[in-house]
Amino acid sequence: MTDDEQGGSTASSTDGLMEKVVNLCKRRGFVFPSAEIYGGFRSTYDYGPLGVNMLRNVKDAWWRSMVKMRDDVVGLDAAILSPAAIWAASGHLENFTDPLVDCRKCKERWRADRIDGVCPNCGSTDFTEPRSFNLMFKTHAGPVEDEGTVAYLRPETAQGMFTNFANVLTTTRKKPPFGIAQVGKSFRNEITPQNFVFRTREFEQMEMEYFVPPAEASKWFEYWLAERLAWYRDLGMPDDLLRVRHHEADELSHYSAQTADIEFLFPWGWDELEGVANRGDFDLQAHIKGSGERLEYFDQASGERYVPHVIEPALGATRAMMVFLLAAYAEDEVAGEARTVLHLDWRLAPYQVAVLPLSRKEELAGLSRRVLSMLQPHYMCDYDTTQSIGRRYRRQDEVGTPWCVTIDFDSLEDGAVTVRDRDTTEQVRCPVDGLLAELASRAAPG
Ligand code: GAP
Repeated sequence: MTDDEQGGSTASSTDGLMEKVVNLCKRRGFVFPSAEIYGGFRSTYDYGPLGVNMLRNVKDAWWRSMVKMRDDVVGLDAAILSPAAIWAASGHLENFTDPLVDCRKCKERWRADRIDGVCPNCGSTDFTEPRSFNLMFKTHAGPVEDEGTVAYLRPETAQGMFTNFANVLTTTRKKPPFGIAQVGKSFRNEITPQNFVFRTREFEQMEMEYFVPPAEASKWFEYWLAERLAWYRDLGMPDDLLRVRHHEADELSHYSAQTADIEFLFPWGWDELEGVANRGDFDLQAHIKGSGERLEYFDQASGERYVPHVIEPALGATRAMMVFLLAAYAEDEVAGEARTVLHLDWRLAPYQVAVLPLSRKEELAGLSRRVLSMLQPHYMCDYDTTQSIGRRYRRQDEVGTPWCVTIDFDSLEDGAVTVRDRDTTEQVRCPVDGLLAELASRAAPG
């Protein structure tokens, strides 16, 4: 593994937590280095059987709170491949750049604002002058490679919401304040991807553009900042791992009038988890200018016509998954034996229930399979018959499975199973008939 894949030198040298989580992710099938059989592809990752479950759960939890539980937000799934016109209008062609420098000694390339004037590779202080490097991946749509066929992989999902603003308005009859939400892949040719899946070139975003009457923008900015913090709390994120940092005027993005980062206490220190931005009417005005279309709201009741302002909570799904893993990781002792445990909220855990027949003997298989079939429509279940029951509990603890259901020989007599709790390790006997109700009572609302 390269230093990049290990979690970056900054993280791994200052805190063993990062290395432990990266190793667990590889060992247990959350995240694999991409193209590993070909030596890996720098800073690109594949999500394995457990990772894909957890990432999906993170996205579902976001979608549920941002779309499903609201009547003022609708969803969208826009194309990743997009014409240059969008990015010319949005300002990304001109402004979505990082300052790039070359170390004259070892020839490595760095982001000038990230290295404090010293080459992290060779220690030299001799650099070329910074030059602007555009982070968008450029390609051509179709067989002809000329200026007219230039296309880009989107560097954010947000522009899809702006370019579809009028479509959504007319098809849904929503009126401000209302939002459009999207979850999907974005691509940035980051100069220095680092720290595992914290910053990668291909990643997933969960973004929502909330369109409001201009005079209400500040109010809704505060509202969404509070909503987003409440989302993390509801999913069990400890308060002391999050903080809000308001951007100074000189660090605002080219589109933003006001931004606050929700920061997480990573092993390398406080860093951005999510951004909440007041984008004003920057984007809609830019696309009005770029496309000539009327992207505005006409309020028939008041006769008022205006271009809404936009409040945007924007979060990386992959970065969020990493943060939930870091926050959940713990090592403790159970009956004098060390264990690794992920204290994940049940809604985020890759498996909610593990069904564990005490032995592989055929007698237990029938009832065990029946229990599994009963639980599968409601929970993501693992079914494991290997190794001793103690070892199997440890393996489930390590991947955050909140409940283990064990079927033993007594179960054949009394029709009851044992339910074991990951966090307390407490075990209770429960009739198979009452198992769904027992698990439902343990699952927090949501
Ligand atoms: N539409 C606004 C926007 O894209 P951003 O702050 O550039 O704003 C939003 O990105 C969020 O997306 C970040 O807070 C972060 O969680 C995630 N993100 C951005 N770049 C990323 C990368 N290279 N790798 C992983 N996640 C990234």
